[in-house]
Amino acid sequence: MHVLSIREMDPETINSLIASSLEMKNACRSGGSVPNLSGRVVGMLFLENSTRTRVSFEQAARKLDLGICVFGVQGTSMAKGESLKDTVLTLRYEGIDGLVMRHNCSGAPYLAARFFGGPVINAGDGMHEHPTQALADAMTIAEHKPAIKGLTVAIVGDVLHSRVARSNLWLLSKLGAEVRLVGPRTLLPRHPGHLPVSIHYDLASGIEGADVVMALRMQKERMDGGLVSSMSEYALMYQVNARSLRFAKPDCLVMHPGPINRGLELDDWTADGPNSVINEQVENGVYVRMAVFAAAFESSNGKTKKSQKKAVKA
Ligand code: NCD
Repeated sequence: MHVLSIREMDPETINSLIASSLEMKNACRSGGSVPNLSGRVVGMLFLENSTRTRVSFEQAARKLDLGICVFGVQGTSMAKGESLKDTVLTLRYEGIDGLVMRHNCSGAPYLAARFFGGPVINAGDGMHEHPTQALADAMTIAEHKPAIKGLTVAIVGDVLHSRVARSNLWLLSKLGAEVRLVGPRTLLPRHPGHLPVSIHYDLASGIEGADVVMALRMQKERMDGGLVSSMSEYALMYQVNARSLRFAKPDCLVMHPGPINRGLELDDWTADGPNSVINEQVENGVYVRMAVFAAAFESSNGKTKKSQKKAVKA
């Protein structure tokens, strides 16, 4: 099974991955048993900066006894001009069983999935999707709220460049939440008509009565310039802080996928305050990635075993 996007994932698969992530957490905390994926090796192809996502995939693999092989653009033949297709084919014929991939081009993991043969997991592709982050966020919400269905979730900030926002809006709306996108006109999707969301240019009305307020990082590296007049003006109008949070429900969850620009998207009080579940999002990221590895390899189990047997006979 590939995990390329939430948009193409059915609600049953989403729910079963969240349930299995909760089981992984329970097992890790209580010393129970988790699937053993020893004998397999997953390639971690990280062609864009990452701390929490890369480390959590590595941690998840270790907990399942899954071997890992980590690559960045520096130190691989991609720096010599090798194409992504050839890199993927090389890894395939060197016997790598699965691929976790972060790439700055939207859609790159789909190309990898065409040529790789084993499961491919999207760890963030350009401005498209970041499915495992949305699963970790949903798991975190599910631990605090009776159900995702019926919740109001405000996603605030640079939605335009955010793959996290895209995966979250699909996931949350598939599970029955009302999703609002909140931010300046220049940082919201230009054609939101096809998205299951409402659009709000004003922070106070956008987060009014919200059960969850998810702030996003200002992705300066993806901005051509001119999208916001100044960062301090953005903070003045859209920062999630004690003052703006008064409009949300008193028990609303404050989330951020990280990395945070403190003082811009969130103030310190809010990032570290009683409503914040940001550290839980990070921790749950490990369990979600365990569940995703288990599902990805379980469904390719028969195939992998058969082809291994064949290879031995040959
Ligand atoms: C995000 C990403 O890389 O898409 N971070 C993450 O993986 N948790 C968000 C961001 O970079 O702003």
